Amino acid sequence: MTQARLFSGMQPSADSLQIGNYIGALMQWRDMQDAYDAFFCVVDLHAITVPQDPAELREKTRRTAAQYIAAGIEPSKSTLYVQSQVPAHAELAWILSTVTGFGEAGRMTQFKDKSQRYGSDQTSVALFTYPVLMAADILLYQANVVPVGDDQKQHVELTRNLAERFNSRFGETFTVPEPVIQSDTARIYDLQTPTSKMSKSAESQAGVLYLLDDISATAKKIMRAVTDSDGTVHYDREGKPGVANLLTIYAALTGRQIASIEDEYAGRGYGDFKKGLRDVVVSEFEPVRERALELLADPAELDRLLAANAEKAAETAEKTLSAVYDRIGLLRRG
Ligand code: AMP
Ligand code: TRP
Repeated sequence: MTQARLFSGMQPSADSLQIGNYIGALMQWRDMQDAYDAFFCVVDLHAITVPQDPAELREKTRRTAAQYIAAGIEPSKSTLYVQSQVPAHAELAWILSTVTGFGEAGRMTQFKDKSQRYGSDQTSVALFTYPVLMAADILLYQANVVPVGDDQKQHVELTRNLAERFNSRFGETFTVPEPVIQSDTARIYDLQTPTSKMSKSAESQAGVLYLLDDISATAKKIMRAVTDSDGTVHYDREGKPGVANLLTIYAALTGRQIASIEDEYAGRGYGDFKKGLRDVVVSEFEPVRERALELLADPAELDRLLAANAEKAAETAEKTLSAVYDRIGLLRRG
């Protein structure tokens, strides 16, 4: 029986993933990879829509891939590869841009936010066409499902519209994908400002837990996490955002119910609870960190692994691209 296709992507935008990426994206992908024919793409062409230092970009691309492998994405089971190593992505993006309306692309809220932040002279045309490249990523593989955070939902909607438009104009070519939106329980907040989503771009790094940080630094950040003066380990997202966030992390990493963790720590202080969470996070992160550093110690081997996966991805991608070229009437090399 053939499995349904899954496609998702992550930008190589940091030296280390933070625990929000881990719980919000990676754990979900790891759980889905058995049930789907999964493609996970390190989207370096998306990353360059904003300025990148070349040497750092290369390093972040390796680091991102290494952390996904270390955390349980199996490159022998799933296809884990780097976007720019499969030229069909950029080629299909061009074709799709010919069926995308200027106004339609202009309605993407992520573009509106980012271009406002940078100003129009600092905003690249590529930032504008970013969602079209994302549509190409997904449609090349005829993906059925696309797990993403809710900030990416609008881009998957655009992808569906482009697929349907292309199919009706040129004949059935693309599978129309379904977004799988990450649940609220998988949303992690900053340990110091538990009302903001955890992000590497936070002003202070004191509330951000990185997968590749020294274990002792991670332990310290947990022990210093903001709580409240009430003193009970109880889940209340509105009233006790700090404690609620720590409970969310605890439950996500152990697979336990929040109520059972509340029971365990009933009548005990936050100190005990934080120590418990610290042990949970440290034992989850330690092997992942070690494995990632091991992979990064042999970049040539990692590069070979990624190249082999890119070759596998290219086989599928080129079939779709070739069908697209035929459909729209491009004269093929005879
Ligand atoms: P980013 O690096 O922000 O583009 O995020 C990559 C993936 O990690 C996306 O699927 C996000 O939804 C997810 N993610 C990032 N930060 C968090 C967070 N604080 N909580 C849950 N998921 C997150
Ligand atoms: N834009 C996505 C993000 O920033 C990353 C991405 C690129 C992606 N191509 C994709 C996600 C295709 C899902 C499917 O998170």
